[in-house]
Amino acid sequence: MPAYEKFCSKLAMGIKASDIRELLALIKHRRDVISFAGGIPDPKLFPKSELADISREVILKYGDEALQYSETKGLIELREILSDFMRRVKGIQADPEDILVSTGSQQALDIVARTLIDPGDVVVTENPSYLAAIGSFKMAGARLVGVEMDDNGMDTQKLEEKLKALKKNGERVKFIYTIPVGHNPAGTSLTLDRKKHILELAEEHDVLIVEDDPYSYIIYEDGVDSTSLKSMDKYDRVIYLSTVSKILAPGLRIGWIVSPRDLTRRFELVKQYLDLHSPTLTQFIVAEAIKKGLIDRMVKVATPYYKSKRDAMLSAMEDYLPDYAHFTRPIGGLFVFVWVNKEGFNTTKMLETAITKYKIAYVPGANFFVDGTGFNTMRINFSYPSHDEIYEGVRRLARLIKGE
Ligand SMILES: Cc1ncc(COP(=O)(O)O)c(C=O)c1O
Repeated sequence: MPAYEKFCSKLAMGIKASDIRELLALIKHRRDVISFAGGIPDPKLFPKSELADISREVILKYGDEALQYSETKGLIELREILSDFMRRVKGIQADPEDILVSTGSQQALDIVARTLIDPGDVVVTENPSYLAAIGSFKMAGARLVGVEMDDNGMDTQKLEEKLKALKKNGERVKFIYTIPVGHNPAGTSLTLDRKKHILELAEEHDVLIVEDDPYSYIIYEDGVDSTSLKSMDKYDRVIYLSTVSKILAPGLRIGWIVSPRDLTRRFELVKQYLDLHSPTLTQFIVAEAIKKGLIDRMVKVATPYYKSKRDAMLSAMEDYLPDYAHFTRPIGGLFVFVWVNKEGFNTTKMLETAITKYKIAYVPGANFFVDGTGFNTMRINFSYPSHDEIYEGVRRLARLIKGE
């Protein structure tokens, strides 16, 4: 057998197997482990019979096109519907020609990274940030600079200081990557003032903003500002990404990018060599689902459902976790982030014990930090486990933290 590694590219060899992948593989078939690890929606919410009806209708009615190759930028039918959806739900004015359909937001991140980043370019992110975005940007050769967060998301004073320092050092910053509402993993939302500040800073320092927004459609608290940066983008600097993964079903693999037209054209050229186009069939299905009001209905059902799971998680944490464990109170998204202020506490090292002895799984927080810190943190998902599993799992988590 040849030594295959010698055939692999430097890029491929540079990618470390992620904790999440290995851990999910390990616990996939273990019913005795309560998993807080994934970031996945509860399949109970999938509108199965409606999607079955729509799929049947689409194939029978539009089969010749729906089962055929299609345009790289996405079906015009879907882009028109998304343009209307963006205006109605997010206040974003986007012509269908400013929209590119992607194979999930993950592909959108990859397209953005390949289009904008040259090796050595700087990308500024929240610290912590979404680990698969970090992975995508690193794969394109970016150097990541993290900005501290507090309860209101990215600290924009710190952002300003970092941008000034980077400019002074002559570093080329390409964009600021932010998850402004329902942050993954921190659960925070930026205030309107901070959003304005980021937009001003982008203009002042001549950088772009990548606004990643899978979560702002489902918000658990009144009074949270869910205005999108893109809707306030008077300088035309924001590239907005979203997806149906959390508001319909991730298996459809449909996301989209709204961007200034010159960039949309560049993104389209890059995408053509990645997958020619996103699946035509699921583009038709998503277009019909939006037209029939299915996403609006799903958001109405998902919001109280996930809120009740979030509340169960927070109340279990209040009951069981020791006071040296701090946790976020997410206003949206699917995660609680936990800090354990105990000397030497290392969630990466503890994961195996957590799974084998305590029968729980989480994502070690260090994966979300761009500066090699965060070993005393973990990301806990509340959308997938049942209410009972949440209580029992947090009880076990508390024993793990206390070393009982
Ligand atoms: C912040 C963020 N961006 C992007 C994605 C990728 O979503 P998609 O399923 O559309 O690829 C996720 C998925 O969890 C996410 O949390």
